[in-house]
Amino acid sequence: MPNRQNIATSIQSRLNTKFVGRQLHYYPSLTSTMEAAKKVAGEEVVEGTVVIADEQTSGRGRLGRAWLSPKGSLAMSIILKPSVSSLPQLVMIASLAVVRAIRKVAGLEAQIKWPNDVLIKEKKVCGILIESEVKGDRVNFAIIGIGVNVNIDPSAFAEISPLATSLSHELGKEVSKAELAGALLCELERLYLEAQAGAPIHREWQAHMETLGRWIQVRAGESVERGKAETVTEHGNLILRRADGSLAEIIVGDVTVIKD
Ligand code: BTN
Repeated sequence: MPNRQNIATSIQSRLNTKFVGRQLHYYPSLTSTMEAAKKVAGEEVVEGTVVIADEQTSGRGRLGRAWLSPKGSLAMSIILKPSVSSLPQLVMIASLAVVRAIRKVAGLEAQIKWPNDVLIKEKKVCGILIESEVKGDRVNFAIIGIGVNVNIDPSAFAEISPLATSLSHELGKEVSKAELAGALLCELERLYLEAQAGAPIHREWQAHMETLGRWIQVRAGESVERGKAETVTEHGNLILRRADGSLAEIIVGDVTVIKD
């Protein structure tokens, strides 16, 4: 059984990053890496610090949901300090980094369900949660939380089994979590730096977006929009064409496909 130091070292030995993952806190078990990262982020922390746990006992999902994080899944949070104007790009950076890392390490093609679920064959393999603290025009910190179903058997978890998959389930063999975490952190830094330099990363993000061209419903609190998903903006917003032909720009929400 590898010890704490070995796991952190094994991930860090795979990094060719400038700052992402250079500080890495590994825990066998945590309530949530978001909570642990938030505590660290409140102190003087270097950008790119990563918190990883082998399992979470109270993993958090989007829109107040719980996130199942048993051993075998990858749970990590990355602390960044972007400008306010580049905050919206984090969604694209994180989901694209996951797609690229899955392709590189597992050889599987994944798609993105707007805004940031990652799917394989229409089933969810990864969820992403982004939380930030902004004061005026300054971002104190942004935390990207990424949960990947790596080596779990989805059928063992009734609450997710109809809608979820895992890398081992798709491949028929286990995948190295350290290799996946390393590749993910490398891709994430690459995309983050490219986006800061003005690269149009929304184009690659859009190319992986399985939501486009489908009739969908987007729910955000009490508000519901229905229409055909047409495109995404450079800030990652979704453009819907309603049945009456008018356009709606969606910033946040939960997507359900009505028909293809
Ligand atoms: C979602 O799809 O609802 C988002 C799930 C995000 C889960 C990750 S796992 C690592 C980090 N820690 C958490 O408690 N949540 C995020």
